[in-house]
Amino acid sequence: MTFQAARCCTLFLLLLLSWACGQTSNTDGDRPSCQRCDLQLSCNCSHSGFRHVPTVTDRALRLDLSFNNITTITEDDLTDHSRLIALDLHGNSLASIHPSAFGSLWSLEELDLSDNQLTVLNHRWFSELGALQQLNLLNNPYRRLGSPLFDGLVRLRVLEFGGPVLEELKTADLRGVTQLDRLTVRANNLISYEPGALSFIWPLGQVTLSLRGPLLTNTALASAVLGDVSYPETPLTLEDFHLIGSQSAQAFRSSAQKRIRQLTFRNFSTSDESIVDMLEVIDGVPVTNLILEDLTLTGEGRWENASWTDHRSIDEFLLRNVVILDVFLFTSFIQLKFLLTYPRKVSVINSQVYVMPCLTSQLLVNLQYLDLSDNLLSDMTLTESLCDQKPTLMELRVLNVSGNPLKSLSTISRQVTKLTKLTHLDISRSGFSAMPSHCSWPFTLRYLNISRAKLSKVTDCLPTTLEVLDLSNNNLKDFRVILPSLRELHLSGNKFLRFPDGRLFQNLQMLEIQSNTLNLFGGSDLQFYKRLENLQAGQNKFVCSCDFVGFLQLLLKGGGDVVLTDKEDSYRCDSPLYLQGESVSRVHLSIIVCHQVLFVSVSCGVALLLASLVCVLLWRLHVFWYLKMIWAWLKAKRSSQQRQRRRNDEGSEALISFDAFVSYSERDASWVENFLVPELEGTNDSSSQQPLTLCLHKRDFLPGKWIMDNIMNSIERSRRTVFVLSENFVQSDWCRYELDFSHFWLFDARGDAAILILLEPLSKDDIPKRFYKLRRLMSSNTYLKWPEEEERREEFWRSLRCALSGDE
Ligand SMILES: *[C@@H]1O[C@H](CO)[C@@H](O)[C@H](O)[C@H]1NC(C)=O
Ligand SMILES: *[C@@H]1O[C@H](CO)[C@@H](O)[C@H](O)[C@H]1NC(C)=O
Ligand SMILES: *[C@@H]1O[C@H](CO)[C@@H](O)[C@H](O)[C@H]1NC(C)=O
Ligand SMILES: *[C@@H]1O[C@H](CO)[C@@H](O)[C@H](O)[C@H]1NC(C)=O
Ligand SMILES: *[C@@H]1O[C@H](CO)[C@@H](O)[C@H](O)[C@H]1NC(C)=O
Ligand SMILES: *[C@@H]1O[C@H](CO)[C@@H](O)[C@H](O)[C@H]1NC(C)=O
Repeated sequence: MTFQAARCCTLFLLLLLSWACGQTSNTDGDRPSCQRCDLQLSCNCSHSGFRHVPTVTDRALRLDLSFNNITTITEDDLTDHSRLIALDLHGNSLASIHPSAFGSLWSLEELDLSDNQLTVLNHRWFSELGALQQLNLLNNPYRRLGSPLFDGLVRLRVLEFGGPVLEELKTADLRGVTQLDRLTVRANNLISYEPGALSFIWPLGQVTLSLRGPLLTNTALASAVLGDVSYPETPLTLEDFHLIGSQSAQAFRSSAQKRIRQLTFRNFSTSDESIVDMLEVIDGVPVTNLILEDLTLTGEGRWENASWTDHRSIDEFLLRNVVILDVFLFTSFIQLKFLLTYPRKVSVINSQVYVMPCLTSQLLVNLQYLDLSDNLLSDMTLTESLCDQKPTLMELRVLNVSGNPLKSLSTISRQVTKLTKLTHLDISRSGFSAMPSHCSWPFTLRYLNISRAKLSKVTDCLPTTLEVLDLSNNNLKDFRVILPSLRELHLSGNKFLRFPDGRLFQNLQMLEIQSNTLNLFGGSDLQFYKRLENLQAGQNKFVCSCDFVGFLQLLLKGGGDVVLTDKEDSYRCDSPLYLQGESVSRVHLSIIVCHQVLFVSVSCGVALLLASLVCVLLWRLHVFWYLKMIWAWLKAKRSSQQRQRRRNDEGSEALISFDAFVSYSERDASWVENFLVPELEGTNDSSSQQPLTLCLHKRDFLPGKWIMDNIMNSIERSRRTVFVLSENFVQSDWCRYELDFSHFWLFDARGDAAILILLEPLSKDDIPKRFYKLRRLMSSNTYLKWPEEEERREEFWRSLRCALSGDE
């Protein structure tokens, strides 16, 4: 029993442990995560060495996992991604995918599984992908497609499959695929093809086939495949093969019979004989476009054996990246007269052409479009190709000699003047370093491209008929040529510090001025561009000032006549330093930064206003007065204490020298001098009383001493203090308050020492509130009233004397 219980317990523990472990390994800790998603929810997790599908936000719309080292996709790796539109797993080492790995990708429209290690394809992968439009299964080592893979993919429009070991294609393999815009089949080693396997797809857009093995060894098989995908409206491209010997070309008979019109051969090698064979096979077939790219030719251009064939329907003839092994044996195109008189469009691009002889040019009588870009034409050989003064290529509309080592703008302008129908001239990526002051051009010229040259100045050489002018990637600093018809101007990659004057281009609708040295721009730069609709000015070193940020954000929001059509992210601040690299659309400058002057003046104004308000308030509340009084009082008190101490040291008693100190307003001086003093000091003869000594500030203050000290001193040396109250006393000026205040401290110390005389009727309410002590005294009725009537004055004097001489 116990043993059983122990086992049970261990089992339980183990279960618990494994559950815990399972939890951690299933959580995101084990799976790497990728956070490189942009604003459009497009996540670029490529080239990151991931070994497992990383966790990505489930809001992602596009997920690029290409070029990682992912080997398997489990059932759970892609759950929660029901919003995903595109999934790219190109270039991993995928060998296994769980049957329901894509089960929740209901929105998926593009799936790329190319360049992996899938040996078997499983139809269950695709069973839930009802929205899928593009599927790429190229370059995986599967031998066959297997059971019908694409049955449920009703929206499929682009299908690419095949790889190095694809061996067989059966009719059932492509069941359900009915209509495609693009089909790519890589079947270089196809051994078995069930006729008709690809024939049910229609309408069929662009088809690209690689059939190297069959074309060399099994022409019948190649012919069957080609026949099944050839239609007049379907451009057909053959890739990666050799067209050698007399057999290869025969495979194209089935296509020729279907009267294909557009034929492209890419990355192939061939010989004179095979070309003659090919020309014979398509004899009389209304091929309009013949495009040969990445061609290696072993031969001398001896194709005259096919000169009887009919190719009058040829419209476009394009050769790109042609390598002629024996280039010096290659005589001329003279024998190709039967080919060259028909096409309207000829391009020989990047094929080391150093001259097109005038004789050849004269064969091209129908030519409207000539592209000789990326070759070795010089000023001299181009003059030969255009037959110098002789009329030639009179139908030419477009001439492209971009990417040739041309040096003289005046030579080319002279040479093209006679092309009286020329509208487009592309002389970009050449060595022009100077622009002559005057040039001649055909009157029809509307488009001129001189980008990627070395121009540092523009002159009146530019034709005024231009509608589109590309001068990007030069060394231009300004632009002063009037071009009244110009609609499009490209000035990116130059050194402009500001916009050219808009008045030069009355009709300009589009301006490109990216990657220059603009610091900022604003409404004033654009105001003369009356018809501008479309502006691209990103990738400049912007100074994010308030005006600029405001203006640009307005433009980005669409609040203007002009629309910024380049990416929002290409407008970034270069300065100030703290905003460097920030996208202008996301910059928020505070009011303080943007309205500095206003801010400072407003805040100063407010501070000033507050300060004056406080001052007024303090003044209204007499705070200054109180402060001044307190200060004076403290000072006086101190000197009084000092005097007291001195007296104590000397042992002398407080010296009382006066009977009364009289405090009065200067305006009441006449009363004091005419009535009070004579009466009390006995200078009045009529008085029979014993004279008293009075202290009057006018008379008894020691000159030279501080007035406060004098007051304190006088009060201390007087037995009583007499206040002569009147309107004047109360309203007496500011400096009198000082005196008044200093009196009042006495009331505390010697409350009864004060005697109030009321010179005129004075109500308590007439006295300002801050003289609260005086008000208190008045309300306690201990004051003497100076009578108006003569007969009652005797009584007044008596009372006063009585009060003065009363015991303390
Ligand atoms: C994704 O990033 C890689 C480098 O990590 C880059 O090469 C690739 O161009 C990017 N793809 C896209 C679509 O931006
Ligand atoms: C990914 O695989 C390649 C080739 O298999 C290898 O060279 C490379 O080192 C691997 N990278 C990482 C990060 O494992
Ligand atoms: C061109 O074709 C050859 C085989 O003929 C192939 O090996 C090579 O990879 C191809 N090149 C390109 C760029 O596809
Ligand atoms: C042209 O045809 C003749 C006779 O059929 C043949 O002898 C000659 O070799 C051919 N020339 C080329 C370049 O194929
Ligand atoms: C001229 O050729 C270049 C390079 O092939 C191409 O980029 C340009 O668009 C062409 N110009 C015109 C006007 O077709
Ligand atoms: C001018 O030529 C350059 C280089 O060939 C090309 O990239 C550009 O698109 C052309 N400009 C216009 C406006 O077509």
